[in-house]
Amino acid sequence: MKNAIAAMLLFAVTTHTLQAQNKREDKPGFHTEVQALLSKMSLEEKVGQMTQLTLDVITKGPDRFSSAEPVELDPELVKKAFSKYKVGSVLNTANNRARSVEVWHKIIRGIQDANKGGLAIPVIYGVDAIHGATYTAGATMFPQQIAMAASRNRELVLKGAEVTAYETRASSIPWNFSPVLDLCPDPRFPRQWETFGEDPFLISELGVQMIKGYEGQDNKISDPFRVASCMKHFLGYQVSVSGKDRTPAYISEQALREYHLPAFKAAIDAGAHTIMINSGIINGVPVHANSDILIKLLRQELGFKGLVVTDWGDIENLYQRDKIARDHKEAIMIAINSGIDMSMVAYEYERFCDNLIELVKEGKVKEARINEAVGRILTLKFELGLFQKGFSDYKKYTKFGSDEFARSAYLAAGEAITLLKNQNSILPLKRNAKVLIAGPNSNSMRTLNGGWTYSWQGEKVEEFASKYNTIVEAFTKKAGAAQVSYIPGVSYKMAGKYFEEFEDRMDEAVKAASAADVVILCLGENSYTETPGNLSDLYLSDLQTELAKRIAAAGKPVVLVLNEGRPRIISRIEPQMAAVVQTYLPGNYGADALADIIYGDINPSGKLPYNYPKFPNSLVPYNHKPSESREVVQGVYNYDADYNPQWEFGHGLSYTNFSYSNLLLSTDKISATGTITASIEVKNTGSREGKETVELYLSDLYASITPDVKRLKGFEKINLKPGESKTLHFTISPSQMSFIGRDNKPVVEPGEFKVEIGKLTKTFTVQ
Ligand code: BGC
Repeated sequence: MKNAIAAMLLFAVTTHTLQAQNKREDKPGFHTEVQALLSKMSLEEKVGQMTQLTLDVITKGPDRFSSAEPVELDPELVKKAFSKYKVGSVLNTANNRARSVEVWHKIIRGIQDANKGGLAIPVIYGVDAIHGATYTAGATMFPQQIAMAASRNRELVLKGAEVTAYETRASSIPWNFSPVLDLCPDPRFPRQWETFGEDPFLISELGVQMIKGYEGQDNKISDPFRVASCMKHFLGYQVSVSGKDRTPAYISEQALREYHLPAFKAAIDAGAHTIMINSGIINGVPVHANSDILIKLLRQELGFKGLVVTDWGDIENLYQRDKIARDHKEAIMIAINSGIDMSMVAYEYERFCDNLIELVKEGKVKEARINEAVGRILTLKFELGLFQKGFSDYKKYTKFGSDEFARSAYLAAGEAITLLKNQNSILPLKRNAKVLIAGPNSNSMRTLNGGWTYSWQGEKVEEFASKYNTIVEAFTKKAGAAQVSYIPGVSYKMAGKYFEEFEDRMDEAVKAASAADVVILCLGENSYTETPGNLSDLYLSDLQTELAKRIAAAGKPVVLVLNEGRPRIISRIEPQMAAVVQTYLPGNYGADALADIIYGDINPSGKLPYNYPKFPNSLVPYNHKPSESREVVQGVYNYDADYNPQWEFGHGLSYTNFSYSNLLLSTDKISATGTITASIEVKNTGSREGKETVELYLSDLYASITPDVKRLKGFEKINLKPGESKTLHFTISPSQMSFIGRDNKPVVEPGEFKVEIGKLTKTFTVQ
């Protein structure tokens, strides 16, 4: 089996880098306190450090997996895990539900107390605090990453991560499995909303902000208000052929490096401390078994020095699911030898520990490999300050759940929400308009937040978020109860699968539509993530489509509010909609921000982070190849290529108008190592103050690998008062002009390039 994997080498490495790596393995070069501790540890203690279990394994209670009862550690199970097996890490929440900071404090303090004997190595606790401290009751929930990408606002992304770090650490948790740096050009995939979308540059820029927000500008994670970040899921997770979670992907090395690698490289350069591995299979090899990716690329080429953790149960998956190992033991051998430092075993941790100990004794896993892994784990624990204190004084976190933090989340939602269509400037609405609100997303906090909110699939949101406003509540507060009525028409089955719905007073809703001045129709999806979020039909559901058609037929203008984790196709109803507003998953303050946009107190400024598809067989990203969007080819056949997104990446309207003029380049000829500056003047020609994201796209007009039609290479968000103008300058460096060539290395080739800002273009030549 090992030979088969070795035969699938993807990345060429020079002898020089191999020697460098070997040197590191012999003498890992850890800090003296880590070396000293390592030298005192038994093999059992070391293997324990490499083991991560889920909290439910050590708690007790009547129904450990869903009960709302107070969570308690089970002393016997705790003793076994920490005294006998010396387990080094725990993840996840108890009974799949959020807990208060006090409860988190009690649990984590209890775990650390269980480790006081012997070498007293603290446990490192990790969770998925992906849009706020998701597993802490009362924490501040921000828009999900896809919405943050639409805001195009680096400062808001930084601030969101800072608040999340603060509230996660307030919960005594020092390690966050975030950000998601996956590129997701596929709207079918159930986790697109966890990403920054389909553009490598946008993901890189915002990913770095998240890392800095979690870890601090200097990555000093001993700071009690910071956490260690975890880049995930390395690498190429969200481009499976089927569009379904954890199914095979086929990605050439060229494409892997061109599209998927840049965000991870940028985050590593920004000092991110840990990384989680893609649970899927690329080119037939599960990534957890691919040393070319985990050692040669990640360690030797990118120089990553931090901790590598598996995704959930993924060593077991090498045997049980992916069938590349004959048994559990061989799966462990393959993964650890391929470069895994810590196994997110989750449940059957004893089997992992026992097998790994045996493998070392049999010489099948070298003790040097174990030392390297454990050295990294201990280094992280030292850097986090866990040896001084393994939990937090939650009472000192006075800003937890504060108005100040809420304001940041609200501002983020306000800049994310994207106005896609606004026929005859129907928006903003007058406050005295009689409004009917309908649709399954009208009165739900769950749909505003999405998955990873108070529980894995987000199904418990209503229990925790009753103090925040649903869309109906926010509109009623804003315009007054006399102006707003609500009839759902369609509702989600709250106990069912995320896509299950039922007709809920549809006739009544249609009748009420004719009596209203305008209908706010809130459609989209219920919450989901991962495999339970897989989807077989990208069209908006039949029942919601029927509701939209019938309401539109009532003859009053309809404002379609989308609240969805991925762009469900709406081409069957879009022509009948007077306006369309995409809210994505805007979090607990999303409805307040939406109401402020609809009534004109916020001027919308979000821009799509993906191409919104119009048809299920046309899922083409904006940065496609020229053959995917050909103009009509004259001749006998007279054909064209059908490039027909509903709305393109970067689309987003405002209540004011911006005009672009004076696109100037500093030169029109440069060498392959030169830089060029583009400047542009942007003016607010309308009558409202507004924010505009100015985006620079670059097209390589011909190259030895067919170039993309265009690529985002710069963006800046500015605020302009009516009549105000600003000139922006963008620097285009050689790395921005380069692409990954046929030899899988970056290259800048001579030839013509086109710069595009707004609708203006200019060309220059690389000589
Ligand atoms: C997900 C990861 C997550 C992990 C721990 C996995 O199933 O793929 O994104 O960090 O669980 O909760």
